[in-house]
Amino acid sequence: MVNTFTLKHLNDRGTTSDIYLLRGNGNEEYVGKVLKTNNFFQSDLTLRSLEKEFEFAKDLFENNVVVPMPVGISKISISKFFPFKFNAYLSKYISGIDFWDFYSGKHLEFFERASYFASLELEKAKELGYVPVDYVLNALYSIEEDKSYLFDFADWKYFGKNEKLKKFN
Ligand SMILES: Nc1ncnc2c1ncn2[C@@H]1O[C@H](COP(=O)(O)OP(=O)(O)OP(=O)(O)O)[C@@H](O)[C@H]1O
Ligand SMILES: [Mg+2]
Repeated sequence: MVNTFTLKHLNDRGTTSDIYLLRGNGNEEYVGKVLKTNNFFQSDLTLRSLEKEFEFAKDLFENNVVVPMPVGISKISISKFFPFKFNAYLSKYISGIDFWDFYSGKHLEFFERASYFASLELEKAKELGYVPVDYVLNALYSIEEDKSYLFDFADWKYFGKNEKLKKFN
């Protein structure tokens, strides 16, 4: 489904991960999140954290919280010159303003709207039983769609009804 070569290193500020832009067979764009590691052999903990992100995103998506469509976990190649593949969490690429930009004074005309829409989504997530952590920057505002997407659930907690999701706390 997803081509395994990397087009672009999306951001350099990711503190816990590297984010890659991937193109699928039908030209659709995905984002691959690879957790930073000190060696080539990613630990079970890394995989578990990606699984947590996928399962939380899937549950949120299915319950109509605005999050980038979760695709799954897949091994991706991060360079055509480097033979080793890394586990990545894949989601649909969203073209939008990263909330981080507001902190450096960019796109401030959208700040109020973007924050308002993000807060609506956070409320929906809380109603499902999520305790969002560190959410201030983990959102994207799409100008065309006029809505805010939440992402980065690796540190979130879940106290809702789904027993399977609670195991990721
Ligand atoms: N589906 C997506 N579409 C577009 N951009 C995305 C998507 N997912 C992540 N990004 C971009 O990648 C950045 C880092 O993603 P994420 O927060 O999941 O990783 P992180 O390692 O936790 O980064 P940080 O520690 O900076 O929060 C985001 O700020 C966003 O700009
Ligand atoms: Mg983040």
